[in-house]
Amino acid sequence: MPFDPHAANLNIAVIGTGTMGRGIVQVAAQGGMRVIAYDEKHGAAMLAKDYIANVLTGLVEKGRVTAADAKAAVDRISIGHTLEDCAKADVVIEAILERLDVKQSLFQRLDQLCDPKVILASNTSSLPVTAIAAKCQHPERVGGMHFFNPVPVMKLVEVIGGLKTAPWVTEALMAIGRRMTREPVMCIDSPGFIVNHVGRAYTTENPRLLTEGIAKHWEIDRILTGAPGFKLGPFALADMVGIDVGFPVMESIYQQFQHEPAYAPNPLSALRAAGGLYGQKTNAGWYDYRDGKRVEPDANPAPRTLPKSVWIWPSKDHADLIAPLAEIFKKSGASLESGPTPSTDALVVLCQIGYDLTTAIHDLKLDGARTVSVDVLFGLKGPRTLMVSPATDPVMRDAAHALLASDGQSVIVINDSPGYVAQRVVAMIVNVGCNIAQRRIASPDDIDKGAKLGLGYPFGPLEWGDKIGAGRILFILERLHAFYADPRYKPSPWLKRRAMLGLSLTTPDGVA
Ligand code: NAI
Repeated sequence: MPFDPHAANLNIAVIGTGTMGRGIVQVAAQGGMRVIAYDEKHGAAMLAKDYIANVLTGLVEKGRVTAADAKAAVDRISIGHTLEDCAKADVVIEAILERLDVKQSLFQRLDQLCDPKVILASNTSSLPVTAIAAKCQHPERVGGMHFFNPVPVMKLVEVIGGLKTAPWVTEALMAIGRRMTREPVMCIDSPGFIVNHVGRAYTTENPRLLTEGIAKHWEIDRILTGAPGFKLGPFALADMVGIDVGFPVMESIYQQFQHEPAYAPNPLSALRAAGGLYGQKTNAGWYDYRDGKRVEPDANPAPRTLPKSVWIWPSKDHADLIAPLAEIFKKSGASLESGPTPSTDALVVLCQIGYDLTTAIHDLKLDGARTVSVDVLFGLKGPRTLMVSPATDPVMRDAAHALLASDGQSVIVINDSPGYVAQRVVAMIVNVGCNIAQRRIASPDDIDKGAKLGLGYPFGPLEWGDKIGAGRILFILERLHAFYADPRYKPSPWLKRRAMLGLSLTTPDGVA
C-alpha cells in the first residue's frame, strides 16, 4: 500500500484529548503535521488546543521554541466536531479511555468511516492491539502507538504491530514518530509491549525481598539508588505512580502472560491497594507523606567498635572488585590478615557474587558466627550492603558495620539472600530483557532503548548484562534458582547461550 509518512501535507487526527491526547496533538503539530483534535466531550478539544497554546507560550518565554514556530504549531491544530471529521486524516491516533469494548467499537466505526489506506493507531497502554482491531474489516491498517506521560517530555514511543498489522503500517508509524521528534522502538503485540514488560522485574522482585524480610522498603530504595544508579527506588516509584494504578497493571500483565511466575504480583502490594494506601496521593503508601513530601525513615547510626582483625576471602575471579574494599579496611586501623586462613577470632568477610551467605558458610566450612558478606559488584559508593546470616554473632555484625562505615560511607545491613539486593534485582532485569529478545518481541537495541528512555534505567537490560558479564548474571540467577527452587529465577535461554558462547547479549540468533 503506497503511504508516504513524509508527505508535507500529512494529516493526523487525535481522538481523545485528555492527558495523553493533548500531548500527542502537541508533538504532532510541532513536528510539522496538521492535526485534527477530537473529543466526545463537548469543548474538550478546544480546551486542549488552548492548553497547548499556553504550553508553547511558556516554551517561547524560556527561549526553547521561537514565537514563529509556536504560532505555526498552534495554527496547524484544528478542532474536529464529529468522528467523520477525523476520517479525513491520513492517520488517526486514538487516546480514549482504556477499555477494550469501548476501543473496539470506536475502531469498528473508524474502520467503516475511513478509506482502507488510512492508518488507525491506538495509544493503549495495556490492551492487545490485535484485540482492538478484531472487529475491523481492515485490521491490517491498525497498529499501536504507545506514548509515555508527559508526552512532550518523554521521547519514547512504542510502535506495535498486531497479528494482522501490515508491515507498511508499523513502518509508517515509526517514521511518523520520528517526525514528531520522538524516539520510536518497534515491537510485536505482547503484554506490556517492551517497557512495561521490562518493568516487571523491578516492580515484582523488590516487594519479594521485602516479603522475605531481607531489607526494609526504604533500605531497598536507598541501595538501588546508590551504586547501581536507579533514579528512583521501587517503593518511592510505586507511591508516585499510585499503587491503585500500578497494581492492576501488575495483575493484568501477569494474567496476559498466563501466570508466568517471574511476573507474579506481590500480596503486599495487593493489601496496600485494598486498604487505600495508594502512595503520594493519599499521603500513605509504602512511605508516609507530610505536606506532600516523603518522610524518610532514619537509618541506624553506624556502630564504632572495629573488629581487632579482619580476613577477606580471596576470590580470584573478582579480585579487582575486592581490592578497593581491602584498602578501606587497611585505612580503618583494623588489622588486615593476609594468611591463607583467618586467625581464630578474625572477622571473615566474603564478597560473594550470586551466592547467599548460608551456602557459602556451609560449602566453605566457615565459622558462621563471624562471617559476613559485602556486595562489591557495583563498586563501593554508599550505601554499602553488608549481608549477615542467622548464625552471625551480633557483635561481629556490628564490628563489620563499623569497619565498612569507617570512611564515612553509609551501610545497610541486610539478611541473607542470593545476590544481596542489587545483584538480585539487576540480574532479574537482565533476564527479563533476555526473555523479551528470545521471544522476538523486539530487537536488542530497542529493548535497551525502551528501558533507558521509558523507565530511566542507567543501562538497558542487555547492555547492563554485558557490562557486568553475562556469565556473572547467569551465575546469580542459577544461585537464586537453586536456592529457592522457584521457576521465577529460571535463566533465559538467550542469556545462557550467550554466556556459554562468550557472546554479547545483543548478539542475534543464528537464524532470524
Ligand atoms: P484521559 O481520561 O485523560 O483522557 C481520555 C479522553 O478521551 C477524555 O477527554 C474523554 O472525554 C475522551 N473520550 C473517552 N471516550 C471517548 C470516545 N469514545 N470518543 C472520543 N473521546 C473519548 O485518559 P489518558 O490518561 O489520556 O489515557 C488515554 C489512553 O492513553 C488510555 O488508553 C491509556 O491507557 C493510554 N495511556 C495513558 C498513559 C497515562 O500515563 N495517562 C500513558 C500511556 C498510555
